[in-house]
Amino acid sequence: MQVKRIIHINVSFTLMLSWDETLFKNPEVFDPDYIPDELLFRDGQIRQLVSCIKPAMLNSSPINAFCLGPPSTGKTSTIRYVLREAERETGLLYSYIRIPRFKEPYKVFSKIFQDVLGQQSPPSGISKTVLMDRVWSNLDEPLLVVLDDINFLGKNYANEILYEILKAPDEYGVKVGIVAAATDVKFPLLLDPFVGASFHYMEIHYPSYGYAEIEGILRKRVEHGFYEGVFDDGAFRRVVELAYRASDVRYGIYLLKAAGMNAESRGSRKVEERDVEVAHAGESLSFIAKILTALNSEERAVLRMIYSQNAISTGDLYEQVCSEIKMSYRKYYNILEKLERLKLIEISFGEKGRGKTRYVQGKYDAEVVDRAMQLI
Ligand SMILES: Nc1ncnc2c1ncn2[C@@H]1O[C@H](COP(=O)(O)OP(=O)(O)OP(=O)(O)O)[C@@H](O)[C@H]1O
Ligand SMILES: [Mg+2]
Repeated sequence: MQVKRIIHINVSFTLMLSWDETLFKNPEVFDPDYIPDELLFRDGQIRQLVSCIKPAMLNSSPINAFCLGPPSTGKTSTIRYVLREAERETGLLYSYIRIPRFKEPYKVFSKIFQDVLGQQSPPSGISKTVLMDRVWSNLDEPLLVVLDDINFLGKNYANEILYEILKAPDEYGVKVGIVAAATDVKFPLLLDPFVGASFHYMEIHYPSYGYAEIEGILRKRVEHGFYEGVFDDGAFRRVVELAYRASDVRYGIYLLKAAGMNAESRGSRKVEERDVEVAHAGESLSFIAKILTALNSEERAVLRMIYSQNAISTGDLYEQVCSEIKMSYRKYYNILEKLERLKLIEISFGEKGRGKTRYVQGKYDAEVVDRAMQLI
């Protein structure tokens, strides 16, 4: 008996991670700013970007480009990848501006000033016109201005910034081009006709990734980020499934890292499915709780009913709602629309009797939504 117990302790000890061991071979591959050496499934977009930037490498004006596509489809990554290569090869001069950090024209112009002149812009007090006059007057090589996430700019600011850059070749004889990126494919239509008329660009499209593409991208991250054999197959499949459901590679990368950290914190040498579930539940909980704060008590009541059962027809649900709260059909319908817009529920068509009926059901795990309700 005694011997058996000792063996048991030894076995479980080898499965444990000692305090100075880690499962992560290269933790930086999970950083939000990490640019992989190889960007899968984006050869076409990279080629288009290169063709826009190439003229600048040959001392002419870069061609304007607009990268358009849903979140997490590789717009920022492909742009930064191409810039990195171009800088390595020819020392391309560029100013990369992530708009959410530089939301006003003055801040954008200051960043361009800093990148072109290699010094901090003068403290405010100097006007935008003087600031940009110094930039253009000192520019003696082709410049590429990247306006990433440009849809974070209000319409007026976007017009002002684009206009300032687009008029520079005529007014100062400089060579400058713009690469912009936006998630809203309609964004270019918002621009003033005046700006639009001189803003000619190549449109580069970034479609959402399919299941196999998400799997391929995440597999590469596991290979680079974790020691071999550490990430369990089932756990990996679960990450792919969750990332696919959210249509978000970025979420998948987050889950890989968070699951790895969960496994480490319980001292395990393997990342298992339960580590992924803990990461996912924690993330969905805070995410859902945040969305729920946008709902009033009636909307929450309807949501609670939807989550208390399986898919239900919108007509049957209305009857249930009316038995608890007095509500017109119009109001009920508006609530359903809002819940669908917030992606808390899913409405789909199904057969019922002879006709087509709309069915409604929750998108998240009912238990997680219930816990989120209690948090707010
Ligand atoms: N083709 C790819 N190969 C490898 N990693 C990728 C690829 N596409 C996206 N990723 C990874 O997915 C995450 C999101 O990509 P990225 O930031 O480039 O998307 P985006 O289109 O700019 O999104 P957003 O519209 O939210 O700014 C990053 O961590 C990136 O490394
Ligand atoms: Mg981006």
